[in-house]
Amino acid sequence: MRKIYIFDTTLRDGEQSPGVNLNTREKVEIAHQLEKLGIDRMEAGFPAASPGDLAAVNAVARAVKNSTVIGLSRAREQDIDAVREALKGAQDPCIHIFLATSPIHRQHKLRMEKAQVLETARSAIRYGLKYLPKVEFSLEDAGRTELDFVVEMVTMAVQEGASVVNIPDTVGYLTPYEYGNIFKHIKENVIDVEKIQLSAHCHNDLGMATANTLSAILNGADQIEGTINGIGERAGNTAIEEIAMALETRQEFFQAKTSLRLSEIARTSRLVSRLTGMVVPGNKAIVGANAFAHESGIHQDGMLKEKTTYEIMTPESIGLKESKLVLGKHSGRHAFRERLIELGYELSEEELNRAFGQFKDLADKKKEVSDDDILALVEEKLADT
Ligand code: KIV
Ligand code: ZN
Repeated sequence: MRKIYIFDTTLRDGEQSPGVNLNTREKVEIAHQLEKLGIDRMEAGFPAASPGDLAAVNAVARAVKNSTVIGLSRAREQDIDAVREALKGAQDPCIHIFLATSPIHRQHKLRMEKAQVLETARSAIRYGLKYLPKVEFSLEDAGRTELDFVVEMVTMAVQEGASVVNIPDTVGYLTPYEYGNIFKHIKENVIDVEKIQLSAHCHNDLGMATANTLSAILNGADQIEGTINGIGERAGNTAIEEIAMALETRQEFFQAKTSLRLSEIARTSRLVSRLTGMVVPGNKAIVGANAFAHESGIHQDGMLKEKTTYEIMTPESIGLKESKLVLGKHSGRHAFRERLIELGYELSEEELNRAFGQFKDLADKKKEVSDDDILALVEEKLADT
């Protein structure tokens, strides 16, 4: 089974979510939890962005023992020097240098011809490798770059000695077929491509970040980049927990696995949500409050008989205690009776029928009927008889 390396950028691309600002203590706390989760590589920040971020990256670099710590840099010497400074004390440091390659970025942002982009990137990789043992190079907006120029840029990065080359879909524009095809094309056309690891980095503007990342894996990506809870610029990045559970649940299909400790997923998600202030939507895959909750009578009846009827993975596998059967207007007698038993009540058939009728009346008025509501209802019923 092929191993997929996980590159977490919660502390960099994730922190670029509007309204999020993590201080040094918070970054270190998240970094420790990412280490427990078993993240292979973590991007701690963008040291040239501010003295505060440089200090935070340095604190993470010194604190983390079991993951590679990475600092982001534009393709310029001052940025590379800042990363060099920030990664002092790291066990396994790596610099992540990026330069845009698409025609839109070349023309409007960089005002550079292809040849200048190529040479600027080449010099930056060379300069980076003078001071740091490993370079990851990213072709920003690779998703909208001509395929032959992608091949030229990746070939140059291989020749210069980069360890990882990243192919970002920076603006979340591609479909899974198109994104996977870029990896296939690189594998088939770059000489000595086996000397590097290829990395996938997707944004979620069209809601396809997870699908695109999985397509890259199917087409030979060795590493995937993402964030916890999928936070990040605009609509966010690929959610790491989604990739990890897709590979785990559909191992026979992907023939690939991560070395994450999956039972740390729920804890990591809660910590990132609390420290970034970004609430996880209830219906968010894997870590949303409803991901293992069942409301309808038919589903609850199925769950009470055999959990695999409506769950493709267990809540325990991501570190949660159990599935939830939420009582509401769609719930049936079976789930209602089970909840009463859990609350310590064994009612006769007649009592149960009456209580169930009252429960349905209440459920029509409320979104969710709580245990306290049920207790009040049963106590009142028993007092009447
Ligand atoms: O989305 C992107 O292109 C990035 C790069 C800096 C890798 O985040
Ligand atoms: Zn990004």
